[in-house]
Amino acid sequence: MASSQGSTNDRFRIVGGCSLKGEVTVTGAKNSVLKLMAASLLAVGKSTIRNVPDIADVDIMADLLKRLGCEVSRDGSNLSITVPEAPAHRADYDLVRKMRASINVLGPLVARVGKAEVALPGGDAIGSRGLDFHIKGLESLGATAHVEHGYVIAEAPNGLTGATIELDFPSVGATENLMTAAVLAKGVTTIDNAAREPDLVDLGEFLISMGAKIEGLGSPLIKITGVSKLNPTDHTTITDRIIAGTWAFAAAMTQGDITIHGGRADHMEVMLEKLAHAGAIITSTADGIRVQMNQRPRATDVATLPYPGFATDLLPFIIAMNAVADGHSMVTENVFESRFMFVNELARLGAHVTVDGKHASITGIAQLSGAPVEATDIRAGAGLVLAALVSEGETTVDGAFHIDRGYPNFAEDLRALGANVTRE
Ligand code: UD1
Repeated sequence: MASSQGSTNDRFRIVGGCSLKGEVTVTGAKNSVLKLMAASLLAVGKSTIRNVPDIADVDIMADLLKRLGCEVSRDGSNLSITVPEAPAHRADYDLVRKMRASINVLGPLVARVGKAEVALPGGDAIGSRGLDFHIKGLESLGATAHVEHGYVIAEAPNGLTGATIELDFPSVGATENLMTAAVLAKGVTTIDNAAREPDLVDLGEFLISMGAKIEGLGSPLIKITGVSKLNPTDHTTITDRIIAGTWAFAAAMTQGDITIHGGRADHMEVMLEKLAHAGAIITSTADGIRVQMNQRPRATDVATLPYPGFATDLLPFIIAMNAVADGHSMVTENVFESRFMFVNELARLGAHVTVDGKHASITGIAQLSGAPVEATDIRAGAGLVLAALVSEGETTVDGAFHIDRGYPNFAEDLRALGANVTRE
């Protein structure tokens, strides 16, 4: 079930200097669909997930589910997962290291099989990402959990029991793992300071459609009343707000005009306020939004925060926009410690950015200048491509496979909007 993307050595070659104009359609959200796939483990039989993007991460999660004994097949944008009576319980390092979202099988496996061994994903290029909230939460639900030989090993041979859990930080992954464990626990679980991201709400609705009892989705307090069994389901994934945001920033930066089909303004309120501050004209359309920009962007300060705050995944785009904006700006990263690594690459394009701890201070210049750069993660890679669009001359962005993890057909979509982009 290989995705239609190219090889791991691919790079993007971009000749900058044009305004992006036209229409683009946003596919299903990566950060939702991967979690829905993992949660399908909770019910024996065949679940169908619709609006599934053709991205590398979906293939990795499919491989992981197959290794756990599931059958996975794709028909266009529909994915079917058939879960056996007794799935295996070990998620090996070779797959987990490729994608942190593999950790999302932890909660469902403990709940369904009574045991999970999941490799520690390790750090990645946006900073260390702990699992302490996942582990402490599972212990509150009555599991034993420890780390041994690079694996989290969690066991609950007699099932889980509902508990009151308070998270120190509204971690998306921890809320997901604990919610997908608690749905089969005996009694009531409350998760306080829960994450509120639309992807998490989508997961909650997927679980409800399987027969789970969940209240408070989208609020900081989620209440789950455990049930003894869940049923397979058929669910359509929400659209990807980070991809929609990528196109919105592309329109603003290149002084273009893009209609984003499937872009949900209600999932991007703070981001759209920031773009409006930068000078963009944003209008609702029948099935999405339209972003127009008729001037050089105004410098715009931002601090990232958990949802509904400005998403950390959009950080590279706002820094890239500010790099060519009129004025000076400050961008603060509050979620991940090393997300500014890509700033070194942006500096190769001539951007004036200095980083001090959580803060990046940016002085906009009229145009960047093309150079060879390298993607270090999905969003940094896409951010560099956007920066290349406003660079004079040619830029190559190495590490296209990072971008493939999250963006189906990125080069084709860019070309359809008028960009001079090739993949090689
Ligand atoms: C998810 C998203 C990612 C997004 C992030 C924040 C997926 C596949 N990834 O990542 O794109 O940028 O949410 O919106 O959906 N933390 C701990 N201990 C824990 C768990 C988390 O300290 O047990 C910390 C992390 O190190 C990080 C912060 O909490 O500093 C946020 O992490 P979290 O919300 O868990 O992000 P992910 O679920 O990994």
